[in-house]
Amino acid sequence: MIGEWRERVSAENERVCANLLKEGTKAEQRAAREAELAARQTSLPTKKYGVIYADPEWKFEVYSERGMDRSADNHYPTSGTEFIAQRDVASISAEDAVLFLWATVPMLLDALVVMSSWGFEYKSQAVWVKDRIGTGYWFRNKHEILLVGTRGNIPAPAMGTQFASVIEAPVGKHSEKPIKAYELIELYFPNLPRIELNARIAREGWDAWGFNIFPRLKPGDFRQAQARFQFALHRRADALPPCA
Ligand SMILES: C[S@@+](CC[C@H](N)C(=O)[O-])C[C@H]1O[C@@H](n2cnc3c(N)ncnc32)[C@H](O)[C@@H]1O
Repeated sequence: MIGEWRERVSAENERVCANLLKEGTKAEQRAAREAELAARQTSLPTKKYGVIYADPEWKFEVYSERGMDRSADNHYPTSGTEFIAQRDVASISAEDAVLFLWATVPMLLDALVVMSSWGFEYKSQAVWVKDRIGTGYWFRNKHEILLVGTRGNIPAPAMGTQFASVIEAPVGKHSEKPIKAYELIELYFPNLPRIELNARIAREGWDAWGFNIFPRLKPGDFRQAQARFQFALHRRADALPPCA
């Protein structure tokens, strides 16, 4: 009698273990498919734009331990310069187009590399002077740089309509850029199709692209989903006799 019960418990245990493994494989396949789908959905659009405005997810060393909470990594995923440079921005640029590209002080050279690998030639720059002082090795930075590059034949603003190269505006949320930058671009190019790359919100009159616009895929999401699943699996398995 006891032998018969043992056999039934062991058969049941095997069945449950097999089901759990099947469930695990399916969940992994599903997570991989979802991640791949999200990657496709976050790929750049196919339309061509005359104005491209970008604030990439620069990765750079922070100044000090105190600076750690100011590190971009604590606020959103960042990428190496090579990865950003390989973004196929050329494929969404009209033949005649202008690029406005934000660079932090330590990332200036990287930004110029990115500008050139996206197919734009450096033309000019403005600085955003903040109302708050930050950190830095040589200077305590109080500004960021807005680089301008062009490709093809793009008209510079009409004489007498150019803005001063200094934009004075208060600091907003982490990495948020001043509204004045949009206003300037809209006045310079009221009719060209515009896109903002790495946008957090889509501004009226602009197309927008970035994780916050398609918030499906962030580095680590897939791993986190797997970890969550494995945690659930372990918890459920704990309640059962160990699998053979
Ligand atoms: C420097 S912030 C941009 C802030 C924005 N200019 C603003 O004013 O709010 C960079 C943005 O890019 C997003 N991002 C990070 N990695 C990305 C990637 N690989 N593809 C698309 N967007 C990404 C981040 O989530 C973040 O919202």
